[in-house]
Amino acid sequence: MKKEIILTGDRPTGKLHLGHYVGSLRERVKLQEDGNYKDLLIMIADMQALTDNASNPQKIRNSILELALDYFSCGIDPSKTTVFIQSQVPELCELTFYYMNLVTVARLMRNPTVKSEIQMRNFEKSIPSGFLNYPVSQAADITAFKATCVPVGEDQIPMLEQTNEIVRKFNALYGEVLVEPKVLLSKNKFCLRLPGTDGKAKMSKSLGNCVYLSDSKEILKEKVMNMFTDPGHIKVSDPGKVEGNTVFTYLRAFCEDDHFSMFLPDYKNLCEMEEHYKKGGLGDIKVKKFLFEVLDYTLAPIRKKRQEFSKNPEKIYEILQEGSKKARILAQRTLNDVRHAIGLDYF
Ligand code: TRP
Repeated sequence: MKKEIILTGDRPTGKLHLGHYVGSLRERVKLQEDGNYKDLLIMIADMQALTDNASNPQKIRNSILELALDYFSCGIDPSKTTVFIQSQVPELCELTFYYMNLVTVARLMRNPTVKSEIQMRNFEKSIPSGFLNYPVSQAADITAFKATCVPVGEDQIPMLEQTNEIVRKFNALYGEVLVEPKVLLSKNKFCLRLPGTDGKAKMSKSLGNCVYLSDSKEILKEKVMNMFTDPGHIKVSDPGKVEGNTVFTYLRAFCEDDHFSMFLPDYKNLCEMEEHYKKGGLGDIKVKKFLFEVLDYTLAPIRKKRQEFSKNPEKIYEILQEGSKKARILAQRTLNDVRHAIGLDYF
């Protein structure tokens, strides 16, 4: 029997970039195509996005369509995957309120992802309590569907740990109702955290170092040709470093042997190319051109589908509405179990 219930989500704060693609989106499409699940759900976390964008709700509203377009153009198929909007499932808020009693403020403050986000957002002096609580709401997102498996990026591991603590505490206090999820990470370590085009550790909108899935061919080329490489590799004949060289990191995340026969038959595979670069005699321009071909080959079909889907936004909203209805039914079941377990089923 298929028993995995897979749930994952993203905050709608903008378009998705290559980091999201290799870190999570590509994996989700694979899971969908494997078909080895009972339910597969993707949540657009608009309420979570509001926890640090309360003064800019329009940004979140506008990003919902962008995010959904990214999903569907990458191959998420609404007949197999339920895509829904968090705020349209109010049961999640009620669950959050019960779970808040099972977590201390000190524990939330220790969550490493929350900690670094507090720093990044200059929230140190006054943390919005909704923001501090978002890991609890994320625990509600996951447990509402009794998810067994959560495919996410590495930065979400602390959220899953916190979720499991809440599940254990809830079950110990009120009875075995909730399910502990496991995290599913990409097996390719270069996909776990794709660096920005400038070589900084993370691709992030605020750093302006992203390649978006929706970038045009021209913009993609420009971004690749300006990418950070090995600053010590000045002349073509110089030996070059591959580790920490962003262009090679991207190749490790994206390139397959077939790409060489298609675009650069001088080499059989990435290993051969890396050896040549390390020895000296291989110029950055040639490597960048190859990376551009590889990325464009991956992104061209996504771009094309995006263009088609964006002609009919009503259809996209219809899919999200359907998905939200379905998700709501599932969450209601868990909420009933939870109320019953706590003893809130008076009548
Ligand atoms: N915190 C996730 C992110 O920032 C988004 C998210 C919200 C999520 N709820 C979730 C991810 C539940 C997985 C499961 O990307």
